[in-house]
Amino acid sequence: MTEQNNAIKFYSGEQIPVELHKVRIVQKLFLKPIDERKAAMEEAGFNTFLLNTKDVFLDMLTDSGTNAMSDNQVASMMQADDAYAGSQSFYRMEKALRDVFGKHYVLPAHQGRAAENIVSQAFIKKGDVIPMNYHFTTTKEHMELNGGKVLEIYGEDALEIKSDKPFKGNIDIEKLKAVFKEYGKERVAFVRMEASTNLIGGQPFSMQNMRDVKKICQENDTMMVLDASLIGENAYFIKHREEEFKNTEIKDILREMCSYADLIYFSSRKVSSTRGGGIVTDSKEYYLKMRNLLVLYEGFLTYGGMSVREIEAMAVGINETCDETVISQSPAFIAYAVNQLDSAGIPVITPPGALGVHLDAKGFLPHVPQNDYPAGALASALFIISGVRGMERGSISSVRDENGNDILADVELLRLAFPRRVFTLSQTKFMIDRVKWLFENRHLVGGLEWVEEPPMLRFFMGRLKAKGDWTEKLVAKFKEDFGDSL
Ligand code: F0G
Repeated sequence: MTEQNNAIKFYSGEQIPVELHKVRIVQKLFLKPIDERKAAMEEAGFNTFLLNTKDVFLDMLTDSGTNAMSDNQVASMMQADDAYAGSQSFYRMEKALRDVFGKHYVLPAHQGRAAENIVSQAFIKKGDVIPMNYHFTTTKEHMELNGGKVLEIYGEDALEIKSDKPFKGNIDIEKLKAVFKEYGKERVAFVRMEASTNLIGGQPFSMQNMRDVKKICQENDTMMVLDASLIGENAYFIKHREEEFKNTEIKDILREMCSYADLIYFSSRKVSSTRGGGIVTDSKEYYLKMRNLLVLYEGFLTYGGMSVREIEAMAVGINETCDETVISQSPAFIAYAVNQLDSAGIPVITPPGALGVHLDAKGFLPHVPQNDYPAGALASALFIISGVRGMERGSISSVRDENGNDILADVELLRLAFPRRVFTLSQTKFMIDRVKWLFENRHLVGGLEWVEEPPMLRFFMGRLKAKGDWTEKLVAKFKEDFGDSL
């Protein structure tokens, strides 16, 4: 599937995602020699979160807080109104969020997980279940801290690596009905849908699926909650993959999606290319339930832990998310990279989704057992041979059970994120080239083992090391093939 809104036809027939923006502020990058990259990886405990960006060439760790801001966003920051309470900046943002999401009450938070904390504390009680298309790491932790249990009720195809199913982020409706039957509506805190489902490769859900989920929520008098962190991209996929919406504008698709949700929360580090988060709802009752928690954990109601400059930029950014040339940019680059890798026989999640390219580490490194963390090993190997920093989304990002055994992840992925409007096509081609080289030399890559393992969110802070001397062999082969080249 190669839907590329900004794929302008080339005379040569080539399909290339042309950038519909120009670069006006730049940051210098460094591509260090391979021995220094290896030393940096060892220093970071084979955990890409612990790398210093001075050692990183292409930072594909995440799109969170790293999307490029527009000229209008930066300009808006100059009019920020510094006030503890009643800042005009907040009212501008409130208006923008009301326009885009169509909900009246707006609660700002310092980032997405802060919103998750408030929503979980306000609406989950011990013994509750929360059915959803798939969990996100911090979401699940907050829900469990409040005594809830996450139920993932995705469709059969959701975890297939190679697929042409357009909406792998859908909730399985029969499974949702079964949840209500088994637990009774009193124990279902709410149903959660995550737009462009992050941990299964940025895969969207369809509008029809939202409508079906909403119907069941209504029948059971249960709240529907939408994680809108990647809603713009999900709306883009609805436009291009769901026949009914092919002539509908992104802002109208987004509005309809939001109309089904009783409460929406988001990380604005993603959705509006700023640093912050928030919650919106039309229900006064829900608003009042969350308001005190907001003041307690985040700050006063008109800033919620965000800087007023970011609040101004959010007001502009949320509107830009409705602009198809803005929102299509990373899906188009991701589709370009995925199609190139896929046609070279490299195991990568298809169809291309939002957020990034997701390499299937189990397929890439079939000789590395899951207990030796193939996705973490792939992330380390790729950094060493290219300076490209990705994120492990596999068993290191999972947890241990009560007996101390690893709960192995459903999928072992290396995510290479495409923050909006950050990387050029030649940088994208460099990444593709190095992934291809690594695939040719995959037999050289071995596993990882723990050196320091924190009990909670271990993927953020934990340190590992290479099992055996595979990194030395990998470096030697790189030098053999590339000589003095970086
Ligand atoms: N929900 C989703 C779907 C997310 O992807 C994230 C963050 C959050 C909530 C939490 O938001 O970071 O602002 O606190 N995802 C980032 C990522 C961390 O790299 O994918 P936050």
